[in-house]
Amino acid sequence: MRLSVIGCGYLGAVHAAAMASIGHEVVGIDVDERKVASLSKGEAPFFEPGLQEILTEGIASGRLSFTTDMSAAQGAKVHFIGVGTPQQPGGYAADLTYVHAAVDGLLPYLSEGDIVAGKSTVPVGTAESLAPRVFDRGATLVWNPEFLREGWAVQDTIDPDRLVAGVPSADGGPTEEGARTADVLREVYHPSIAKGTPFIVTDYATAELVKVSANAFLATKISFINAMAEIAEVTGADVTTLADAIGHDARIGRRFLGAGIGFGGGCLPKDIRAFSARAEELGRGESVAFLREIDAINLRRRDRAVDLTVQALGGSVFEKKVTVLGAAFKPHSDDIRDSPALDVAVRLHGLGADVTLTDPAAIENARRIHPQLTYVEDRDEALRDADAVIVVTEWDEYRRELDPAHAAALTAGHIVVDGRNCLDAAAWRAAGWTYYGMGRP
Ligand code: UDX
Repeated sequence: MRLSVIGCGYLGAVHAAAMASIGHEVVGIDVDERKVASLSKGEAPFFEPGLQEILTEGIASGRLSFTTDMSAAQGAKVHFIGVGTPQQPGGYAADLTYVHAAVDGLLPYLSEGDIVAGKSTVPVGTAESLAPRVFDRGATLVWNPEFLREGWAVQDTIDPDRLVAGVPSADGGPTEEGARTADVLREVYHPSIAKGTPFIVTDYATAELVKVSANAFLATKISFINAMAEIAEVTGADVTTLADAIGHDARIGRRFLGAGIGFGGGCLPKDIRAFSARAEELGRGESVAFLREIDAINLRRRDRAVDLTVQALGGSVFEKKVTVLGAAFKPHSDDIRDSPALDVAVRLHGLGADVTLTDPAAIENARRIHPQLTYVEDRDEALRDADAVIVVTEWDEYRRELDPAHAAALTAGHIVVDGRNCLDAAAWRAAGWTYYGMGRP
């Protein structure tokens, strides 16, 4: 099928390449000339495992192209909107400028019967408000949220847990138009549906809410375990054992019970804030008032990691050499948006520490925003002569591959703060380190 994808950031670029990889003919459109130039050469503009391969393959096959020219959308049957919805400056609500610009820019090129499929994360009610403009062109609007995780984006796009389509509905079910639209999306995602991926057809509001409530739930799970870490810290309990134990209950599950410096990235923080803002607009602020607490718990864990480092170094980090392992908001990503890892590094620097930071993928991005830190590509070089080491992103390079005895031979002091509870505490202690975990004795 001929498809267009408007917006070629993390979401759109992966979506475009993934759709080409399953056989569609795709044009990706973005206003950013540099991004388009890089994608057109088959170069991924950000680190995402597997993306490079499907980009190169798609371009070589002739099924995938990128342009800044919106008119290239003409002739596509489905037009995906994958632009960003960042947090508004000075507020919690989502900024929908790019969504409106994408839809308005696309309108002149829509043909009768086309489908506009919104993938961006938007406040509930957005699709309803956009729909008339699309219908006026004889096209249909569907909301088809994306649940991809960075680092697994290609796999999550080709083989998602579930597909959700919010279509025009009336009287508790899809209209005729809505049902037809759902069928076209079934065709688009045929390879995945044929493998048994659930395809849920619903109304606009439910589809929009599925996305934000999923992210709110994940954020809540992380902050829940981090709240338990705070209690563990005053009682001498170990939150990692606690998470293992409660995680054995299938109703709870162990995933997303990793206590540490908390969640960050381009989605969870902004999405829970936008959800709170939207609920308030709807007069239902109290229903999600707990999300403010989730946010507050999350931010407190960064303070805790900084305080632990200060305590471990005898009450001050001033002029102490602190090596920070990690800058990305999570492993397998070069994304530093709202990264707790980078925030901890910057705060330590602000307290006078001589911070050396390393990361397998995110140094370039981090340096651009925080040039005041010292960046070292080589992990061992970064560790040399450190008074303390703090792990803030659980890359395998630190979690599995860093031998504590090897590290001990490089550093001056032997203090390690495990901001992600990802190290083998016993092994580090055995190698002579004083180990500090998050919510662990
Ligand atoms: C998230 C959702 O998972 C995805 O479905 C949605 O579409 C976009 O937002 P992503 O932002 O890529 O994806 O990251 P995710 O893997 O969810 O991690 C989010 C943050 O939570 C990271 O900073 C991670 O380090 C942190 N985290 C995750 C924890 O602190 N503890 C955990 O147990 C799990």
